[in-house]
Amino acid sequence: MDASDVLSLCKRRGFLYPSYEIYGGVAGLYDYGPLGTAMRNNIVEIWRRLYTLGEGFVEIDSETIGPEVVFKASGHVDEFADKMVKCKVCEEAYRADHLIGDRHPNPGSLKEEELDDLIREHGITCPACSGELSSVEEFNLMFKTVIGPGSGRVGYLRPETAQGIFVNFPSLYRYNREKLPLGVIQVGRGYRNEISPRQGVIRMREFNMMECELFVDPEDKGWPRFKDVKDDRMRLFANDGRELEISVGDAVEQGIICNQVLAYFMWFTQEFLKAIGVDGTRLRFRQHEKDEMAHYAADCWDAEALLSFGWTEIVGIADRGCWDLSRHIKFSGVDMSAFKRFDTPQEVERDVIKPKYGILGPKYKALGSKIGKAMEATDPSLIKDDSVTVEVDGQSYVLSRDCFDVARVKEKVSGVKVIPHVIEPSHGLDRITYTCLEHAYTKKEDMEMLRISAAIAPIKFGVFPLMARDELDKVAMDIDQEIRYSGIETYYDDSGSIGRRYARMDEIGTPYCVTVDYQTLEDGTVTLRERDSQAQIRVKVQEITLVARAALCGANLDQFVVGENKS
Ligand code: GLY
Repeated sequence: MDASDVLSLCKRRGFLYPSYEIYGGVAGLYDYGPLGTAMRNNIVEIWRRLYTLGEGFVEIDSETIGPEVVFKASGHVDEFADKMVKCKVCEEAYRADHLIGDRHPNPGSLKEEELDDLIREHGITCPACSGELSSVEEFNLMFKTVIGPGSGRVGYLRPETAQGIFVNFPSLYRYNREKLPLGVIQVGRGYRNEISPRQGVIRMREFNMMECELFVDPEDKGWPRFKDVKDDRMRLFANDGRELEISVGDAVEQGIICNQVLAYFMWFTQEFLKAIGVDGTRLRFRQHEKDEMAHYAADCWDAEALLSFGWTEIVGIADRGCWDLSRHIKFSGVDMSAFKRFDTPQEVERDVIKPKYGILGPKYKALGSKIGKAMEATDPSLIKDDSVTVEVDGQSYVLSRDCFDVARVKEKVSGVKVIPHVIEPSHGLDRITYTCLEHAYTKKEDMEMLRISAAIAPIKFGVFPLMARDELDKVAMDIDQEIRYSGIETYYDDSGSIGRRYARMDEIGTPYCVTVDYQTLEDGTVTLRERDSQAQIRVKVQEITLVARAALCGANLDQFVVGENKS
């Protein structure tokens, strides 16, 4: 099996369509068909509930276009670039690290010159025409636009949903009644002008993300529920080369993962991925190399799934420290700190500037007292070359050491301002969706099947009459309607042999099928067939929604089994 098998089934059965295909398509753009949309929505809903109901986080929905200053502050305008080479003959562009492939253990961490050297050393040429390649240069991935007509203002499509959360931090902090930790999630589109997207939905130029920004006290990176999960195990591939299966608790204790919050949310991510059907034996966490990390990250672990493309990042869990809030404070001038209240007011000592009004008065006359007040408000750390500079009525004044003293004073304070640190689990939703599809894909003697987890399957029940006549169809339609009206997705099918109908449902990952046959008319029972085991049981028509709910919860269905399946 390779990705083209999965993608061709996805296209044929309505999961994914290459965008604008009637015009030849555009690399890196994909549309979701009816089944893909439903399946992706199911993934989002499970994720959303885990974070909001499970962890008490809040969800927002911010704009996808932002003014330039936002992305100057975030560092994306200046730093968010990949290394590119172009063919000197056909002008095709490539990501340099992708051309290196497995000639280096981690080509994504290499600098331009190192990539250049490897390209020359290995005689790498253009994959399309074998032409000579240019030297490596940076290509910024931001989509630039103009906001408004006329001279307009430069804007960008967001490369991550995260910035929409950071710029709203003061309002969100107030909403949270000025308390940390504060967890905020967002689901939405991100845009990256990828150099050469060639791996289906793995690298898209417009893509779906589910991001969580968790704001924590920088001095307290413990997590209350850490103790509940510390014995669970994760597969880690650390940046010192160690590959190990280790408990969450030991990983923190041994300093492999730098704090409890990061470790907890790595575990949380693992459990979420397994719950939606990602194969746990094809899942690991890889720590970024120091020089591979995004410009904002202090530490980062990728949840990687083993796909036909190799190990592929599907979630990044980064410790962003105070990078984003500090940058937005600097660029906006807005105070984005949190106030850390002490349990009881504390007496603290601090240095203050004490102006010598006896000198300022004669020297600056009526302005003397204003200058003195400005000096009192100035932090002594700003004293340079024994002088302090203050601004009064739009004018700068440099005051030398004979105009002030520095004194240590004691005062009672109820808390301190801190810039929260951010832990960010950032999920590539398209990659996760594709991983669920590829891990669910099986093929036996030309029969393709998706063993998608029932939780995310777009259609949960196929409903068939054995024959589309003799009242069987009417009973089946009633059952179909009853299941649908109870909120469970069904697909009614009365055409072709029953075997073909099962096969069609298996192919799109429908976990259960209900068949109405002649026995139904005699004793009011139907068959319920389970996709993976192909086991069939008989259950009462009267209990069908109860059975459907129990089946989707993974409950034991023995209590619902009645009589023998005679067909
Ligand atoms: N916000 C994480 C990322 O952009 O990958």
